[in-house]
Amino acid sequence: MIEPPLVDIRHLSRDYASGGLFAGRHVTRALTDVSMTVHRGTIHGIVGESGCGKSTLARLVMALDRPTSGSVLFEGEDLFGVSARELKRKRRDFQMVFQDPFGSLDPRQTVGRIVAEPLHVLDGKPGRAERRDKVAAMLEAVGLSPDHAARYPHAFSGGQRQRIAIARALITEPKLVVADEAVSALDLSVQAQVLNLLMDLRDRRGVTVLFITHNLAVVDAVADRVGVMYRGRLVESGPAQAVFARPLHPYTRLLADAEPDVTRFGRPDRPPLSVSAPIDVGVGCSFRNRCPRAVARCATERPELRSLGDEPDLRDRQTACHRAEVLLDAETSE
Ligand SMILES: Nc1ncnc2c1ncn2[C@@H]1O[C@H](COP(=O)(O)OP(=O)(O)O)[C@@H](O)[C@H]1O
Ligand SMILES: [Mg+2]
Repeated sequence: MIEPPLVDIRHLSRDYASGGLFAGRHVTRALTDVSMTVHRGTIHGIVGESGCGKSTLARLVMALDRPTSGSVLFEGEDLFGVSARELKRKRRDFQMVFQDPFGSLDPRQTVGRIVAEPLHVLDGKPGRAERRDKVAAMLEAVGLSPDHAARYPHAFSGGQRQRIAIARALITEPKLVVADEAVSALDLSVQAQVLNLLMDLRDRRGVTVLFITHNLAVVDAVADRVGVMYRGRLVESGPAQAVFARPLHPYTRLLADAEPDVTRFGRPDRPPLSVSAPIDVGVGCSFRNRCPRAVARCATERPELRSLGDEPDLRDRQTACHRAEVLLDAETSE
């Protein structure tokens, strides 16, 4: 029997209704028909501007929110089709690391308590001694010292706090860690350390990470595969190296051009290019108004995510652009 992928996201959409009782209802489509597969033992990057739906996707994958339509299969089982009890049992398999290393740790609790907290969801809750050992091992795994368990969060820097948050996320030995802008608030040198830690945890422990960021350089430094989002849709996906070496979607190219030296991580983190909140563009391509390559068809027909063929540098890649072949040809003949 073929083992199902760890996470299989299928046609996921999420609408938010806003506007008061008298204002008339307005619907924001935060996520539209997103499908992707996250494989075990990989770091799967998601990149896109602020407002494009990344956190909405994260919340759905964590089952903290329900989709308007579509499903999230975790090891082949639909997270939104199982009983509340079953979902509770599954929750130990996925944990989250948030952006804010200062807001996400309770200042009144010791680091030991904070890191041990997720252990409560386990059936056979470990006893005191075992808990202490697990916390000590986890703190060492993220490059901290077991002595740190007795201290409080205020004694630590932003980077150390993110290590604590990662230790907490990993203590139940989850199969998936969702990291939503987990390094975005950190200084550059510290970002690099935390990214190295995530790669190390992938290599040594086989941890799978859904790594979400607005920063292309960061995702390029850490991810095996990448999905590029624009206005609630996935517009390009593939092996990170191939995608950044030769973007297939004009939007990915725009991101890469804005980050000229994407392969050399360590440049000042810039604010996101702009905000790509969802707007209703009707039937056409949602990027067409910003696209330097748009043609008439882009206004009348929605481009679906599709493969371009089996050549070595196109294999396993997808793009949602009508003009992908034309742009590739133009590039080759340049
Ligand atoms: N709870 C909510 N209610 C209404 N609109 C929301 C809610 N959460 C997110 N949105 C809207 O959905 C879109 C995507 O938001 P989000 O997923 O947070 O984007 P990102 O994480 O990429 O910045 C935005 O336009 C945002 O305003
Ligand atoms: Mg977000």
